[in-house]
Order: sequence, then C-alpha cells, then structure tokens
Amino acid sequence: MSGIILCRSKYGASQKYAEWLSQETGFKVIDTKKADIKEVEKYDTIVLGGGVYASSIAGIAFLKKNIGALKGRNIYIFACGMAPCSDEVLGILKEHNLKGELADIPLFYYQGIWNIEDLGFTDKAMMKLYIKMIEKKDPAELKSYDRPLLEAKDKKCDWTDKKNLGPLLELIRSKGE
Ligand SMILES: Cc1cc2nc3c(=O)[nH]c(=O)nc-3n(C[C@H](O)[C@H](O)[C@H](O)COP(=O)(O)O)c2cc1C
Repeated sequence: MSGIILCRSKYGASQKYAEWLSQETGFKVIDTKKADIKEVEKYDTIVLGGGVYASSIAGIAFLKKNIGALKGRNIYIFACGMAPCSDEVLGILKEHNLKGELADIPLFYYQGIWNIEDLGFTDKAMMKLYIKMIEKKDPAELKSYDRPLLEAKDKKCDWTDKKNLGPLLELIRSKGE
C-alpha cells in the first residue's frame, strides 16, 4: 500500500503527529502548501493533517479543491487544536470543514501545543485580545475552546502523545490488509 501525509502546521503540533505517523507507516510527509495533485493522486492512501485556527483545519482547502481527482483513495484527516477532544469539538470541526463531498472522510482530533509566548506577532496580539474579551464574558456564553484557553492562558502546554495515533493507524492498516 502506498501513502502520503500532507501537513500544515504553524507551531509544530500537527507536524509532530505527521512525523510519528510517517515513522509507523513509511509514508512521506509533505507541506500541504507545496502539494501537487498530480503527485498526490498517485497514492492509495492520503492523510491530511493540520492545526485548528478559528475552527478551520489548516490545509483543508487542498482537499476541497481536489477531492474529485482523489476518488477511490483512502483519505483520512487529523486536526490539532488546543481544546480537549469532545463530541462538541468534533461536531464543530465537521460542520466547519467537512461538508459536501468531504462529509464521509474519517476525522481524528488530537490536543496539540499551546504556548502564547511562542506565537507569532499577529497571533499573539490577537489571542491576548481575545483572552481579555472572554475573561469579561458570562461563563455560560463561552464557546467550546474558550474554557481551555482561559485555563491554559499563559501556561506552556504540550498535550501531544504518539499513543493518540492508535485508532488512525489501525484504520490505515486495516485497509492495507
Ligand atoms: C490564532 C489562533 C487561533 C486558534 N484557534 C483555535 C480553535 O479554534 N480551536 C482550538 O481548539 N484551538 C485553536 N488554536 C490553538 C491551535 O490549534 C493549537 O495551538 C494547535 O496545536 C496548533 O497546531 P499546529 O501547531 O500544528 O499549527 C488557535 C491558535 C491560534 C494561535
């Protein structure tokens, strides 16, 4: 079975999962931004991974654009965010990212990395402002990832764990048998 991992990672969380997946499967990892559909369509299995930014999965546009050329392939998506995994988080991600032809693609979600001091200039300014705003809100009005954000805030968090890849690896391997 041949496969490829497309990944878009800003702060390293999805990249870490992509590299671990590569170690286990032998699939190479490429940056989704540099992916060429003529190359990607040669593979039986395509895994797309990316960080979550305002509920959007980084790199998902590549699949939206090219899903027609990838008919019959085994496609999987994994996303890394700061919120702990829950049905609510998965529901929001599906609603935002996996409509229409992407609706049946299996989606895996992993808690990633959070360190506000490491964020780029714009992200840091934006998140600091956002945190200030939600700190003033009625707790009942908070969105699913607001609570974890308030908890993590200035802390350095790395929730990445290779073990989380178990179910995705099992699915990939089951199709290759
Ligand atoms: C501007 C910004 C927006 C974010 N939006 C979300 C979000 O909507 N949901 C979430 O769970 N995490 C959110 N995060 C946290 C990132 O998803 C998290 O840090 C993740 O590990 C990033 O993955 P990456 O390092 O592979 O890009 C956001 C972070 C930043 C900087």
